[in-house]
Amino acid sequence: MTLADTTLKPELAQTRAHNLDVEQIRRDFPILRQTVHGKPLVYLDNANTSQKPQVVIDTLSGYYETYNSNIHRATHLLSEKATHAYEAARVKVQRFINAPAKKEIVFTRGCTEGINLVANSWGRKFLKEGDEVVISWMEHHSNIVPWQIVCEATGAKLRVIPINDRGELMLDEFAALLNERTKFVSVIHVSNAMGSVNPVKEIVTMAHERGIPVLVDGAQAVPHMPVDVQEIGCDFYAFSSHKMFGPTGMGALYGRAELLEQMPPFMGGGDMIRSVTFEKTSYNALPYKFEAGTPNIADAIGFGAAVDYLKGIGMENIAAYESDLLANATEKLSEIETLTMIGTAKDKASVLSFVLDGIHPHDIGTLLDHEGIAVRTGQHCCQPVMDRYGITATTRASLAFYNTKAEIDALAAGIRKVIQVLG
Ligand code: ALA
Repeated sequence: MTLADTTLKPELAQTRAHNLDVEQIRRDFPILRQTVHGKPLVYLDNANTSQKPQVVIDTLSGYYETYNSNIHRATHLLSEKATHAYEAARVKVQRFINAPAKKEIVFTRGCTEGINLVANSWGRKFLKEGDEVVISWMEHHSNIVPWQIVCEATGAKLRVIPINDRGELMLDEFAALLNERTKFVSVIHVSNAMGSVNPVKEIVTMAHERGIPVLVDGAQAVPHMPVDVQEIGCDFYAFSSHKMFGPTGMGALYGRAELLEQMPPFMGGGDMIRSVTFEKTSYNALPYKFEAGTPNIADAIGFGAAVDYLKGIGMENIAAYESDLLANATEKLSEIETLTMIGTAKDKASVLSFVLDGIHPHDIGTLLDHEGIAVRTGQHCCQPVMDRYGITATTRASLAFYNTKAEIDALAAGIRKVIQVLG
């Protein structure tokens, strides 16, 4: 397909009631108070990384100022405090996604590491020549490359669920791909490149009917909507702290205990062992078997603070506010004649990816930056999505609950100015 064939119009979402005071919320984010190139910052690059509320910043400095020490390894008071805060953060994350048990939450460096952990540990143990792993066309590179690497090592094959012109995953094609060779399914919950929300519960049900485990990449879902891993029914759910208003270099992997128990460690080192001799090492209990070495203690605790902050606002509330904002932004951008939206799924969250006739996305991004508007341009780590639409890049505005309709107006005005200058 080429862009010329794209006649699909974006869906305009229904407005949902919310109870969110955006001006009050904006006061919690010190970074939003600044100007960029002399203009008030309009931060619309939230799918790339989100901003941090003061409470997360204070939690990090509070840890380093008052109780920085290693965890699980010492008898002194500071270590006890740090251990307690680190483990309390795990429980916060567990409850946030309604995971059944604390031991099913493995702290990672981010969503990418979570997927790599499963691909390497589960994949190298259970995949063999001729087996198949199913992913979708809209996966982030981090849910493609780890599986390619493990397929190369094991002789398994990668199968890809196609997407339609709206950027929706084709469930009938998914059903047709499943067969006795399919051993694993790994799909994204919300597309970072297009905003499509995938029917992950249905995907899991279809896979489980054949006894196939499913990993869901939830990096772009958890900051925008309530996520309940028991309701979805998935076996693994990976996500990052930095996209949900927490620190960078931090994330979590939920894994069903039964599967995690069967999997070998991903990395070896301190804390993941029970006993070590030169002849044999036995491993620690879950989740520590998967947390080798001194972990990212401060950022785990900061992650917990971000979860508390989100819970304070309420994920239902955030989802309702953002769906209203997305509908408003979709309408405003659709009025621009030379703009084509990439990704017009009926069920969409927080992302507006678009191209302008005859103007390169990098030029759009640069000119918008001069208006104080931060967006991302490029492939968004989703080269196959770009190939699917016959383009090399898009400009992407991605929303968070601290964005406002006035900022959407600024974006639309900024795009019109770009067209005036370069169109
Ligand atoms: N995956 C991140 C994005 O979509 C980096 O921008």
